[in-house]
Amino acid sequence: MLPFAAARLRFLLIHRRRWPLILLLVSLLFFFSISGYLEEFLSGFLSIFSSTPSHVSSPRVLNVPIPPFLLSPVNACSTPPFLLILVTSAPSHRDRRDAIRQTWGSLASSTDSASLTLFVLAVPKSSEEKAALMHEAVTHRDIIQANFTDSYRNLTLKTITGLTWALEKCRGAQYLLKTDDDVFVNTMFLTQFLRKANGPQYMGRLHWHVSPSREPDNRHYVPQEIYGGNYFPPYCSGTGYILSREAAGHILEQVRSGPWLAVEDVYVGILAQAAGIAPRHVARIAGSMAVPHSTCCYRTMFTSHGLTPKGMQEAWKMLKEAANHWCPSVVLLYCKLFGQLLEKGEDGVH
Ligand SMILES: *[C@@H]1O[C@H](CO)[C@@H](O)[C@H](O)[C@H]1NC(C)=O
Ligand SMILES: *[C@@H]1O[C@H](CO)[C@@H](O)[C@H](O)[C@H]1NC(C)=O
Repeated sequence: MLPFAAARLRFLLIHRRRWPLILLLVSLLFFFSISGYLEEFLSGFLSIFSSTPSHVSSPRVLNVPIPPFLLSPVNACSTPPFLLILVTSAPSHRDRRDAIRQTWGSLASSTDSASLTLFVLAVPKSSEEKAALMHEAVTHRDIIQANFTDSYRNLTLKTITGLTWALEKCRGAQYLLKTDDDVFVNTMFLTQFLRKANGPQYMGRLHWHVSPSREPDNRHYVPQEIYGGNYFPPYCSGTGYILSREAAGHILEQVRSGPWLAVEDVYVGILAQAAGIAPRHVARIAGSMAVPHSTCCYRTMFTSHGLTPKGMQEAWKMLKEAANHWCPSVVLLYCKLFGQLLEKGEDGVH
């Protein structure tokens, strides 16, 4: 019995010495997976599977089938921004647009013109709304509008309209961010991050393995004729994705005349795949998540979703008042763990 007991004791001792190491490894794995850095790392391999590297050449002349522009704030781009932010919005969301104008969107006039925020809308149904929107556009000169009916099922058209406008009328913008009117954007940190990026880029909160909804009543219904596959290719959440100018050009090159997939972000993912551009996950983009309402989360994340106009003002105030506030990297873990996953609402779109 004695040799057996001794061996057992030795076994335990050796393993006890390894416990801290095992604990450390488990914690690191936890940190990297919850924070999103593991996904960020893994998404780097998606480019191996992209089929046609068409992005080696420069994009062709655009010929996207979209209705004519009714409002086109070209003067806003006379000093081209580094980052052009396109916010898809709905006519009735004046309060959300105003909140963005007063907060992160106000950096439009910043000295180095790093970012410019413009809203993308279509035509409201009622004549009162038409008149109100026209008045708003004259006052703020930040509305892009094309001649089609503003509705949720036309969101894809709205996005394609915004991207086309950016490439045609704001040629100097190097990056585009497509986002919604209930998303908080940390424009300053995002711009800093993008200054270090290079090559064609399609980045955001990655969705890896989503299958189309075949329920006609579902808001995200996709008929078999429009997309036959069982799974969509990986795509970035429409609450905030970044396209380099070059990538946007190659993506628009793939647009054919409709009918288009009505789920805007999935459609852009499909176009990107056709163009041979692999999406990249960015841990600091929240996707449909609302991060905890705290200074460090707004300082750490590039986006947060589902803010009311009042929440937007508060978040901006927190960010401004904490210019030198230090937040440790593990805050990202806190923001992700305690963030609220929101069902993507009809934001900016009906
Ligand atoms: C916009 O579309 C409507 C109907 O689709 C048409 O009657 C109108 O002339 C168009 N306006 C412009 C400026 O293209
Ligand atoms: C989308 O826009 C087109 C052009 O204005 C319009 O004919 C169509 O009804 C709209 N679709 C929806 C679902 O509103």
